[in-house]
Amino acid sequence: MTSTAHPHTAEEAAVPEAAADGLVLRGVSKVLGGKTIVDDLDLRVAKGELVCLLGPSGCGKTTTLRMVAGFLGPDAGAVTIEGRDVTGLPPERRPTAMVFQNYALWPHMSVFDNVAFPLRLRKLPKAQIRTQVEEVLELVGLTHHVRSRPARISGGEQQRVALARALVQRPQVLLLDEPLSNLDAKLRVRVREDIREIQQRLGITTVVVTHDQDEALSMSDRVAVMNSGRIEQYAAPAELYRTPATTFVGGFVGATNTLRGRLEGDAAEPVVVLSGSAGEVRLPMGSTNLHPAVSSAADDTLTVRPEDVVVTGLVGNADASAVVDRIIPRGHFTEVVLVVAGATLRAYVDADAAAVAQPRGQVRIGLRRVLVYRDGRLL
Ligand SMILES: Nc1ncnc2c1ncn2[C@@H]1O[C@H](COP(=O)(O)OP(=O)(O)OP(=O)(O)O)[C@@H](O)[C@H]1O
Ligand SMILES: [Mg+2]
Repeated sequence: MTSTAHPHTAEEAAVPEAAADGLVLRGVSKVLGGKTIVDDLDLRVAKGELVCLLGPSGCGKTTTLRMVAGFLGPDAGAVTIEGRDVTGLPPERRPTAMVFQNYALWPHMSVFDNVAFPLRLRKLPKAQIRTQVEEVLELVGLTHHVRSRPARISGGEQQRVALARALVQRPQVLLLDEPLSNLDAKLRVRVREDIREIQQRLGITTVVVTHDQDEALSMSDRVAVMNSGRIEQYAAPAELYRTPATTFVGGFVGATNTLRGRLEGDAAEPVVVLSGSAGEVRLPMGSTNLHPAVSSAADDTLTVRPEDVVVTGLVGNADASAVVDRIIPRGHFTEVVLVVAGATLRAYVDADAAAVAQPRGQVRIGLRRVLVYRDGRLL
């Protein structure tokens, strides 16, 4: 499932073996227009879990979600929901409900009628429809807009109507495709917190598609990072950020410095030797993923998060290891762009560290945590 060779995958850590499966995709593939869009994809979502499919535009996220909902049939593989194989079922016979990116609300219907629509399709008794719709409107905080038309309510409220229309069907799996992309930045944060809160309260198995890493990290139990129709890594947000399994994941999730160099020294005093166009620089280093028995090679890739670059003032001139190129205020931290051995290194530092950095001046640096990749994979 996860493609990392790391011994402690988040999957093992986060989900006990006995946890019931909410949704399982096994070897799912889809070819569209002669191109493999989803490529032998495996994904296991525990019951009640919220998982984000995160990846760049065109990597196959929506296609994957549509195969779970049944709008698209896979060319190979199977989709199972709470132990039941639904691969051959049409959307209306699957225990899924989907919230589309543009909400797809009916403009001529009231909020109540929009939410009631899927239940009327199923010809449920009128009284039951009323009870279920009122319950779910209460849940999403829209009781005061029962009679409003979608055009008369805000974007965030329209989003909640779309969510209510999905939840009223009491699906076993809730699917959301870029649910926040039509909202402004402030509202996006609030609505994603609302969605997470409601999802946890109901304990509903949920898959959210997004290309926004912030969204994925902040609302998920686990994140599946997709690239070209495959999952590169499937892990809890903290693990994904701290130990990206591939250089692609490291570059896509959070900012990172990608450098050339090698590790030297012993366990007591590890040193990283960075090489750039202006030669080599030896820097003190904190921790690394590299096992002591494995040595790094000259053409390995090293990555360092900007917050793991420690900037300090000079004690003597011999300590100088970097030149300050630019200082960029970023609000609650300062970004210092450094040049080390001719290579660019970005550091995120606090006000104290920023005070020792002057444009064109020299500083000392150390690297708190360095990850070593070979052929794009974590060693
Ligand atoms: N019906 C189709 N015929 C041919 N190609 C298609 C079809 N539907 C999707 N594709 C292609 O499949 C690829 C993946 O599409 P998909 O919509 O799954 O991407 P996505 O990850 O959701 O991207 P985005 O973040 O832009 O929404 C795209 O290159 C798209 O052009
Ligand atoms: Mg999409």
